[in-house]
Amino acid sequence: MSREFDLILFGATGFTGRLVAEYLAKNASKPPGATTSGSETATKWALAGRSVEKLEQIRSGLGPGGASVPIIKADSGDAKSLEAMVARTKVMCTTVGPYAKYGLPLVEACSRAGTHYCDLTGETQFMRDSIDRCETLARDSKARIVHTAGFDSVPSDLGMQFLFEQLGPLKRATLVVEVMRGGFSGGTLASLMVGLDEAKADRSRRRLLGDPYALSPNRDAEPKLGNERDLTSFKFDDFTGQWIAPFVMASVNTRVVRRANALQNYAWGRELRYAEVSGMKRGVRGAFRAATMTAILGGGIGALMFGPTRKLAERFLPKPGEGPNEESRRTGRVRMRIYGESEKGERGSVVVAGEGDPGYQLTSVILGECALCLAHDEAKLPQRFGVLTPSTAMGPVLRERLVRAGMTFARG
Ligand SMILES: NC(=O)c1ccc[n+]([C@@H]2O[C@H](COP(=O)([O-])OP(=O)(O)OC[C@H]3O[C@@H](n4cnc5c(N)ncnc54)[C@H](OP(=O)(O)O)[C@@H]3O)[C@@H](O)[C@H]2O)c1
Repeated sequence: MSREFDLILFGATGFTGRLVAEYLAKNASKPPGATTSGSETATKWALAGRSVEKLEQIRSGLGPGGASVPIIKADSGDAKSLEAMVARTKVMCTTVGPYAKYGLPLVEACSRAGTHYCDLTGETQFMRDSIDRCETLARDSKARIVHTAGFDSVPSDLGMQFLFEQLGPLKRATLVVEVMRGGFSGGTLASLMVGLDEAKADRSRRRLLGDPYALSPNRDAEPKLGNERDLTSFKFDDFTGQWIAPFVMASVNTRVVRRANALQNYAWGRELRYAEVSGMKRGVRGAFRAATMTAILGGGIGALMFGPTRKLAERFLPKPGEGPNEESRRTGRVRMRIYGESEKGERGSVVVAGEGDPGYQLTSVILGECALCLAHDEAKLPQRFGVLTPSTAMGPVLRERLVRAGMTFARG
């Protein structure tokens, strides 16, 4: 595919978009590990958004790698501007959210134009709409549409693919978050609130969010494994040998992993039971921490569901455009372990880890590498098109890039 640009970053004026722009400015023309010259070293990229003035400000802070990057004016509410933009590039990388509010016209434009796409959504209802509206269009035009290409849900999705490579088809797997230090942004909160509001107002949306197979390509073909609800309380877990509590992103990541499995004809396990939890270690201290985590999470979501407490919370929480400061982005980190048991009864685990605030610092690395991978690694990617997950679109090729960029995917 020959186009004016390899990739366009849409939303660079937002909190996360700016971090992705900084990552691309440092790495787009020299991806980590690249040793030869050629197409890999000459990324043609551009910044896009609705305010040229704001984009110029962002560009002026990008240093030599971003100083001459072109600027494109486009608005999510203006379909013509989106169509014109996606026709100029191989890949659209977007941080314009909440996606349920602004995202679908861009997915549709990319799906029609055969333009690959990656985003940072963690909004299940938006992904379902994207699948229903754009799957056929994207397949026909040979576009790879990749949602959840950040901390949600790349470590889960690529981690499960890595575990499968070690153990073969699985009958169960549990991802345990062992360490997670980081903050959140106003944009993430705004997206969470859009989701909560939709669920409150619409019963079918509530049902969708509660469905473990909400992102299934064929709901009737999914296995019937009994209760597969995400953990909402704390308990001692014999499989992983520790106290466990709910993990806030489980309701998104588990759906993405199950979709990935279904898109590969259940290669990871026809009767795979997959869960995500927070790990709290053993003993009384573990039990206490698990109980505390459950209470904080339940209380936090509860507070955002109801008018008066939500109004109060909104006064103190970050606004769109705001997020964790540089110190906390730098000192954040995450480590997850996925425990698995194969269909043959063999047990094993893999570790997925990264440095920097997972939601922002690490996410900007992950999304930047996804965009570069879609732009440059075409020949090595699976011949699969439509609305995909990170592992089904890019798999081990993306994993290699992330390892070169500093992430860990290790056995044990
Ligand atoms: N999955 C993950 O791991 C992860 C991590 C981080 C963030 N996120 C998600 O990423 C999204 C962005 O978060 P954030 O904190 O960066 O948000 P943010 O700071 O509020 O940024 C939102 C961006 O969207 C742009 N925008 C809004 N309306 C637009 C329109 N009509 N046309 C074009 N651009 C428009 C804004 O442009 P202006 O500057 O012109 O207003 C801004 O650049 C959220 O949905 C969040 O949940 C996900």
